[in-house]
Formats: sequence, C-alpha cells, structure tokens
Amino acid sequence: MTTPKISRRSFAATAMTALSYSRVMGANEKLRMGYIGVGNRGDQVHDGFLEHGDAVTAAVCDLRDEYMDFAIKKSRGATPRKYTDYRKLIEDKEIDAVAIATPDHWHAIMFGEACLAGKDVYCEKPLSLTQKEGRYMVNMAEKTKRVVQVGIHRRSAKFLQEAAEYVRSGKLGKVTVARGFHIQNEWPNGIGNAPDTAPANAKEWDAWLGPAPMVPYNKNRTYYDFRWFYNYSGGQLTNFGVHYIDMLRWALGKDSPKSVAAIGGKYAVQDNREIPDTLEVIWDYGDALIIFCQYNANAAPSNLQGSEMEIRGTLGTMYLHGNRWEVVPEKVTDNIFPARTPLDRTAEKAYNPSKKTRIEPAGSKGSADTAFHARNFIDCVKSRAKCNCDVETGYLSTSATQLGNIALKVRAQLDWDAKAERFTNNDKANQYLGYEYRKPYKLPS
Ligand SMILES: NC(=O)c1ccc[n+]([C@@H]2O[C@H](COP(=O)([O-])OP(=O)(O)OC[C@H]3O[C@@H](n4cnc5c(N)ncnc54)[C@H](O)[C@@H]3O)[C@@H](O)[C@H]2O)c1
Repeated sequence: MTTPKISRRSFAATAMTALSYSRVMGANEKLRMGYIGVGNRGDQVHDGFLEHGDAVTAAVCDLRDEYMDFAIKKSRGATPRKYTDYRKLIEDKEIDAVAIATPDHWHAIMFGEACLAGKDVYCEKPLSLTQKEGRYMVNMAEKTKRVVQVGIHRRSAKFLQEAAEYVRSGKLGKVTVARGFHIQNEWPNGIGNAPDTAPANAKEWDAWLGPAPMVPYNKNRTYYDFRWFYNYSGGQLTNFGVHYIDMLRWALGKDSPKSVAAIGGKYAVQDNREIPDTLEVIWDYGDALIIFCQYNANAAPSNLQGSEMEIRGTLGTMYLHGNRWEVVPEKVTDNIFPARTPLDRTAEKAYNPSKKTRIEPAGSKGSADTAFHARNFIDCVKSRAKCNCDVETGYLSTSATQLGNIALKVRAQLDWDAKAERFTNNDKANQYLGYEYRKPYKLPS
C-alpha cells in the first residue's frame, strides 16, 4: 500500500454507507474483530481478546505478512481475512469493531476512518501523536456515537480501581504530589547507530511512514524502536508515561494541568534516538503536582521500594507496583519534632512513634492483564456503555504527556488553558500542538 488508490471522497461515501451497517448486538452474540497492526502490542491485544469466547478474529491487517500469518494461526480455528491495506479491513462489513495497534502517528487517521465506517474502536495508547489529533478523535467518536476503549489497560485492573478509590476517598489525607518512574538502564549503546540505507521494500516504508515526513529508511525508525523518534512517537513520556499519568490523574481526580515544565537530555546512551534518555516532567494541576521521571541508570530499589508510582498524602504514602499496591502510614509526631531545643531532643529520644499512625497500613494485589480491558470493551460494545478508558479519558492522559514534550522542546514552563486548548504564555509552543501531514494524507471527516 502506498498512496491511497481510492479518493478520500469516495472512501468517505463508502464509510458513511457502512455506518448504517453498524448493528445492535445481543448479549450472547460474538463480536467480530478486525486487528490493524499485529506486531508487538497488536499480538498482545489479540491474545487479550482471544481469552473471551464471544470475540472472534474476523480479519487481520499488517504490512508484514509473517505477522498476519502468526495471528491467523492462533485465531482459535477461525479463518480471518488478511489485508495489507487497512482501508479494506475497515470497509469489511463483516467486522463490528477494530483494534488499532500501529505506531502512534497512524492512530488518528485509522481511528477516524473506522468511526466513519461505523466500527467501534479499541485504540492503543498513546491515543494520538499530537494534541490536535487527540481532540479530533474525541469529537469524531462523539459525532459517530462509537464505543471507544483506549489501551491504557490499568484502568480495567480491579486492584488499581481499588487503589484509585482509596486515594479519592481521602484516606491518604491531602495529596499534593504523585510521581511515576520509568527506570531502565540502556547504557551505553541503547538502540545502536544503524545507518540510513535504501529500504528493502520501498512500498512498505512509504506505507509505514503514512502521514509522517518522507525520510531515508533507517532500521531504528521502524519496528518497535520508532518510539525514540518524534515523527512517530513521544519517547518514554508518551509510552510508559501515559500509563503512569493516567493512573495518577485517576487517583487524584484531575483532568487537565494548569502548567507544565520539563527538563532532560541524552546523557547516558550513544545511539541515534532523538528523544532524551533522562527526563523529568512536572505538571501543576492546581493543588497538586504530578511528576514523571525517566532515568537511564541503575534501577535498584531505593526509597521508591522498587515501585512504579508513589502518591504522597498527609496521612501516608501509596506505592504502586506492577501487581500490587501498599500504603505506608505517616508516623504521628504530634508536631513536637524536629527538635528545636535540648529538651525537645531528650523528648525525641524517649518518643517511640513507630506504633502511632492516623491510618492503618493497607494494600491489595492483582493483575493488569490486557484481557480484562478487552472484556470491558466487548461488554461496552454490546451495552453501548462508556468503556473504562473511554476516548476522553485517553485523550486527557495522552495530551498531558504531549504538553510535556512541547515544554521540553521550547525549554519553558508553559501555562495551559484547558478550555481553549492553547498555551497562554508561549506562541511558539502552540505551533507544536499539531503538524502538517505528508500529502495526500489527511484526517477523514
Ligand atoms: N498498552 C500498552 O501497554 C502498550 C504496549 C506496547 C505498545 N503499545 C502501543 O501499541 C502501538 C504499537 O506498538 P508496537 O510496539 O506494537 O509496535 P510494532 O512496530 O511492534 O508494531 C506495529 C505494527 O503496525 C504495523 N503497521 C505499521 N503501519 C501500518 C499500516 N499503515 N497498516 C497496517 N499495519 C501497519 C507494523 O507492520 C507493525 O507490525 C503503539 O502505539 C504503542 O504505543 C501499547
């Protein structure tokens, strides 16, 4: 697939006709799924749906034949149709819903076309490459009344639902700071320094780039490693960062930040990535800071207790790990410490705060398996209810990370007007909210 062979107008016409094929499903009916992008994550998402007997693999689409064959083999005896051109899959009237697990720069276009064709959509995170695309996707889902699940799968994990509820109920006291950490030691070579070469398959490279600028082929820009290049993704901030910001926003009950600042650089690895390997981003949500830390260094557990996230309240701290969370209560000091006088110091020595806390330790264990998120999507397609990570939720978490990347780019603290969806103190920053697509690509309408 290179440039579109059918005109946008005729495609839109097909899409609008297809809208009328979207059907009301009964509780016992099987959801006919089409998968666009069955690489690393697409394969996991497919597995998540295969866990459920009422989801059937009707079609797969990828630029790589071998990935499609792999997906077809595990389709529980179904005989999925195989498409290299995603538009053919979207046109397929025997498909109810599509799962999009292509690189980030493709999400918005594929999502728009799927919605217009009357398909419900499971779209991987980050929702979009840019803030403007994300807003477009929210509007498109609303306009076409589509059920959307964004692939921030922690939202469907019961133990994390309990964690969010615990914090939101006020048990942790007043929360003023929460941090997410991604620590991975890629020193010294990172993804290496693959040279630009001629692509083995020019058509595939053109289709892979899609709306992104045409640049010489480089192996590191493509499968999986595209994450480290800004034309296709936003680095660890929009990769793991989206999961963490989403969890922290959820627990703290926050929507959009008022301000964002970022600082970092490429300090640890010598490879051809564009994104920083070391980064801190701070969002001001009005009465609390959310912070994302990406370190390319030794990841030994320290004061973080090896956790991915921490939420610090006045009564205790919640540590969130991959499969559990725990609350460590604040020790009560009755405001007599730290010692200021010799008498205080004597009292401090005699005082044993270890048993005195205002809340009890708490915690829970569980799994954030993608299958739970797939289950929620299937149920919502049938009931037309909102998914656990509906498009607006996915948008708010994705856009926060995109604003962080813009702050890093313009090297400034940026004030964000969430209503106008503009920065109010930096015109240059506003230019990075979207980008011009390579011709003839455009967002479907
Ligand atoms: N929810 C999670 O925890 C999670 C985990 C990993 C990745 N992801 C997200 O999933 C998406 C894919 O990441 P990945 O690691 O699987 O990348 P990947 O490179 O392994 O897979 C992407 C697949 O998309 C296919 N593709 C690219 N352009 C296409 C096109 N025009 N038409 C059809 N197929 C096309 C590629 O051939 C490839 O197989 C990203 O948005 C990523 O952020 C989410």
